[in-house]
Amino acid sequence: MKFFLDTADVDEIREWSQTGLLDGVTTNPSLILKSGRDIKEVLAEICDIVDGDVSGEVAATDYDTMLAEGRELAKIAKNICIKLPITMDGLRACKTLVDEGFKTNMTLCFSANQALLVAKAGGTYVSPFIGRLDDMAIDGMELIEEIRVIFDNYDFDTEILAASIRTVNHVKDCALAGADVATMPPSTIEKLVKHPLTDAGLAAFLADWEKTGQKI
Ligand code: G3P
Repeated sequence: MKFFLDTADVDEIREWSQTGLLDGVTTNPSLILKSGRDIKEVLAEICDIVDGDVSGEVAATDYDTMLAEGRELAKIAKNICIKLPITMDGLRACKTLVDEGFKTNMTLCFSANQALLVAKAGGTYVSPFIGRLDDMAIDGMELIEEIRVIFDNYDFDTEILAASIRTVNHVKDCALAGADVATMPPSTIEKLVKHPLTDAGLAAFLADWEKTGQKI
């Protein structure tokens, strides 16, 4: 499973890119707002730091302007992935942009049928929002499982990019369900590495090593 960082904070992206664990980045209008940066400027900087796909989202809702904005975003760097909402115009724009050789990330997916449409439109990624479904007492993970079955049934190439990840269990369950990518905020990736038994075990090993008086 690929790990994407869901942020437009370049300092965090730079830090995580150094671990070698980062496969890409996703942004959205809310994250651009949070960054306080110009969208093109910040995406260019992120694309310089990260080799993998970097999603930048269009702001238009009609087909023609979505195409124009998508093409404009794609000029920023080779690894830009054009993010579009799942609407009729968005799906149509996805098909056109994919035919033109661009990568797309179809966002705001809340049903298996929406994901099926994205696959039929040739989308590179579909982004089901787990946390926002959980917020409404609907099991977000069930959606990932359903999409996995549908995509496998028909050998669709579209990758499942699990988004709106809020907990470490979301990450584990996404991996179990076969999501291709999990995009998460830096605070969630950080928590994945933590275990109190690891900390306690390491402290005990270090204390014993000290007593041996040896050096490697
Ligand atoms: O990038 C889209 C998604 O990950 C947003 O997550 O936490 O705002 O639902 P959230």
